[in-house]
Amino acid sequence: MPTEYNDLRLGAIMEPFRFHLFLCTQQKPEGVACCPVSGSIEVCEALQREIEARGLTHEVQLTTCGCMGLCDEGPVMVVYPEGVWYRRVRPADVNEIVDRHLLGSKPLERLMWSDAAAMKALSIDHGEKYRAAMAARDCAGTLPDSLHQTIRSFMPSRVILTALELDVFTTVGEGANAEEIAGRIDASTRGAEMLLNALVSLGLLTKSGGAYRNSQNAARFFAKGSKDNQREGLMHTANIWHRWSTLTDAVRRGARVPIDSARPPDWTRNFIAGMQHNAKDRAPLVVKALGAEGVRRILDLGGGSGIYSIAFAKANGEARAEILDLPEVLPLTAGYVRNAGVEAQIALRAGDMLGDDLGSGYDLILLNAICHMFSSEQNQELFRRARQALVLGGRLAVQDFILNPDKTGPQQAALFSLNMLVGTEAGASYSEPEYVAWMQAAGFADVRRIALPGPSDLIVGRAAK
Ligand SMILES: C[S@@+](CC[C@H](N)C(=O)[O-])C[C@H]1O[C@@H](n2cnc3c(N)ncnc32)[C@H](O)[C@@H]1O
Ligand code: FES
Repeated sequence: MPTEYNDLRLGAIMEPFRFHLFLCTQQKPEGVACCPVSGSIEVCEALQREIEARGLTHEVQLTTCGCMGLCDEGPVMVVYPEGVWYRRVRPADVNEIVDRHLLGSKPLERLMWSDAAAMKALSIDHGEKYRAAMAARDCAGTLPDSLHQTIRSFMPSRVILTALELDVFTTVGEGANAEEIAGRIDASTRGAEMLLNALVSLGLLTKSGGAYRNSQNAARFFAKGSKDNQREGLMHTANIWHRWSTLTDAVRRGARVPIDSARPPDWTRNFIAGMQHNAKDRAPLVVKALGAEGVRRILDLGGGSGIYSIAFAKANGEARAEILDLPEVLPLTAGYVRNAGVEAQIALRAGDMLGDDLGSGYDLILLNAICHMFSSEQNQELFRRARQALVLGGRLAVQDFILNPDKTGPQQAALFSLNMLVGTEAGASYSEPEYVAWMQAAGFADVRRIALPGPSDLIVGRAAK
């Protein structure tokens, strides 16, 4: 055998990590053996925790992977560079694997599997059984599991939204039983217990001796008192649930359906908090993509929490922004601007961007997450008026979910279009050719798309004539 090949086999020159762990997490259809059913997700979490706790993150690469053909013996994991196979790994084994193999460089023999002939035979046998099971399901006309799961995926979502509405995670506090929690959230013990058990199944609570406690994520993101608590913004998703329930009728009518119930009192506060949260990481990227240098006067139409104006103000001390939004929103905007300490650079104007005079002399107009609220005609008119409000050479920047030309994707943009169907008079997601055509017709040149990380992109044009 040539030396180079020997070197490759030994991993001497190919493996960039001291150890590379491949752990199978391939989900298979119901009734077919697979590693996640044997607990590989829990093993993965335990490994991640342990690798980090022992300071091995730069030495050890953990990669989740697809089926290795030995599903009846799962969870299966292979460790390189040695190519040691482990089977039936349990979370309780992780400590020992780390101690012995990753720190002591000695494989853990009791879990090792080195009978290559038996492994190959098992893999062939499993492959045949798997193909037979798939053929039988196909013959019986069984719905694919992934499709079935998508259809039922509203259930876990609804469980979490109800828990947020009832503020369960704050109520759980340091731990309480079902009866105590039911009393605190003014619910029946029967209903509360079912909800709490479902939250345990979703990994958001734990249960021990009848006492429920928040998981790390629940305590961090959903409970009052945590600095990362996002319940206020997530309540917007709970609020739009009711509108999504009208989707069938809205599709029939081609317009949103009036609903009897009034908006909850905190609707606007939740909406603006949700928008602020969505834009928190994106705002500095938008400023970077557009460039803050030389920007003097900004008009932020429907600025909401003011997050984009705030980001520009922080990036350029000379910049002055005006946020135009609805009167009921501006007190909230004022709070965000105050907290950011940039009141001197940001003015607030109550008004209607569709009807009011926009003013003049701006060198940048922002339309972040705005155009999807309006019809094509309203957007075209808005672009024309924005052009008039800009100095020659000034820029209009639209940020939104942007559909492919045939409007069938990306999925988030296509789904968001329905969010607008159920929630607005005439809103929708639009495609790049639509935005480009509207901008050009309104007198913008150099119209281009700037990709941003995440689901929305920028379309930017320069006022030309
Ligand atoms: C989806 S939010 C976007 C907020 C902000 N631009 C952002 O990206 O975080 C839409 C904003 O437009 C405001 N808005 C809706 N219709 C408006 C109108 N006709 N005139 C002015 N503001 C409006 C809403 O109050 C809200 O703050
Ligand atoms: S599903 Fe893990 S080895 Fe097949």
